[in-house]
Amino acid sequence: MPEFSVHVVGTGRAVPERVLTNEDLSRIVQTSDEWITTRTGIKRRHVAADHERNSDFAALACSRALADAGCPAESVDYIFVGTVTGDLIFPSTACLVQARIGAHNAAAWDLSAACSGFLFSLEQATALLRTGRGKRALVVGSELLTRLTNWQDRNTCVLFGDGAGAVLLEARPADGGGVLATFSRSDGRLADLLSAPQGGSAEPPTPAIIEARTNKIQMKGNEVFKYAVRSMGAAAQAVLSEAGVGAEQIKLFIPHQANIRIIEAIATRLGIDAERVYVNIAEYGNTSAASVPIAFDEARRAGRIGPGDHVLMAAFGGGFTWGSALLKL
Ligand code: ACO
Repeated sequence: MPEFSVHVVGTGRAVPERVLTNEDLSRIVQTSDEWITTRTGIKRRHVAADHERNSDFAALACSRALADAGCPAESVDYIFVGTVTGDLIFPSTACLVQARIGAHNAAAWDLSAACSGFLFSLEQATALLRTGRGKRALVVGSELLTRLTNWQDRNTCVLFGDGAGAVLLEARPADGGGVLATFSRSDGRLADLLSAPQGGSAEPPTPAIIEARTNKIQMKGNEVFKYAVRSMGAAAQAVLSEAGVGAEQIKLFIPHQANIRIIEAIATRLGIDAERVYVNIAEYGNTSAASVPIAFDEARRAGRIGPGDHVLMAAFGGGFTWGSALLKL
């Protein structure tokens, strides 16, 4: 057994007030509420106003997680922000968040793993705290994916939303609880299935790139769907096996909220009935790295999960990346 167990002691979330409904979208591209609802499960998504930044939501989610735990910001040793839509190319959004919340004793950095960014960060933070290298870490998933959205592409623009979720982790003398197992994996051969192909340092933005919108998200939806079911299911299975916990012991499964059909397919594969699967995709759409921690905070605050419960999380995203975590709260 490791020297320390790593427990979630606080959670928080923050989303923009502005909401875009399927009806609103049907006035922008050729789509309908019926198509979006039946193919994805999404009804609304929260969209940042022009003056709002990724770090606004990330910092608010962190402040709420700290308040939830009753811990001062100065007591935080690490801040991880999983994001692909940081405020700036550099410095990192994590450093901007650090300054905003006053966590002046922390080391802060961003982690780029698209929709898996929160779970990849959770694995890294857990590994550090488990060895006694620090006592507290804020792990954040925060995205403004609508800033990377091509609003003329109906294949993708209906899918995404903005927001942030955060957890505060704390190392405690080993007690057999907390984060029981984590898993992360990637396959760069699948990079082209889901990407913003231009606009990075390889091909910096030019008027032609901006005009063609090739600095925005492009996706081969059908193939992503197939890999998502396979990879997220395998990731969830991996942590259950590692911890020796059966699917029947899971109080709540919190999957990445990308598509209701993907969620249902994975839950069926795992043998977890619908009542034990957390779904909020209708309200937020796909918020990338933020989707799992937003859902986790909602479920915790709604009393769906509490001390002693087993919670399973899984995500997949561009890269390809996929990961999972099993917690005993
Ligand atoms: N409204 C109306 N029609 C549409 C829309 C829309 N918004 N989007 C696509 N269509 C049309 C297509 O053009 C196509 O028409 P055609 O048959 O005349 O060519 C038809 O609907 C069917 O399109 P499909 O792509 O086959 O639809 P599918 O059932 O596969 O659903 C979807 C598409 C929702 C994108 C699905 O494939 C999916 O969810 N894939 C996974 C996406 C995902 O999870 N992405 C994760 C991103 S994570 C990250 O890292 C950012």
